[in-house]
Amino acid sequence: VAERTLVLVKPDGVRRGLSGEILRRIEAKGYTLRAVRLLRPTSEVLHQHYAEHEGKPFFEPLVEFMMSGPVLAVVAEGEGVVPGFRSLAGATNPTEAAPGTIRGDLGRDWGTKVVQNLVHGSDSPESASREISLWFPEL
Ligand code: CMP
Repeated sequence: VAERTLVLVKPDGVRRGLSGEILRRIEAKGYTLRAVRLLRPTSEVLHQHYAEHEGKPFFEPLVEFMMSGPVLAVVAEGEGVVPGFRSLAGATNPTEAAPGTIRGDLGRDWGTKVVQNLVHGSDSPESASREISLWFPEL
């Protein structure tokens, strides 16, 4: 199987109508969309997805934010797609993210408890396979 990553368009991205723009950037880079699903994630899925952040002060606000509206879950495929999508996404904090990136061009700080930064991308191939089985158990 070619390299795959899990991308999430978070509720802020879907709410702002940026799903198409974000998919466009993934495809324009030359990555392939393998699976796409719009869903309302359960608290169980989010607790597993964000297990490494459990106990941090922003953890519960993060889970609540991720349940505030539909999320677009995407499996993208291509050589180098794990670090490649992280580059497309830009830095975690949208105020610091470089122009040219998804977060740098489209994101900003809204003064919310949890940083709203439009997208998630797996941080390693190991995280990608764990996250893909969590969000797309049938794959
Ligand atoms: P992401 O890196 O996709 O996954 C963890 C998320 O937690 C991150 O995006 C932000 O939305 C949020 N986050 C990370 N660090 C902080 C922080 N220090 N304060 C508030 N939210 C954060």
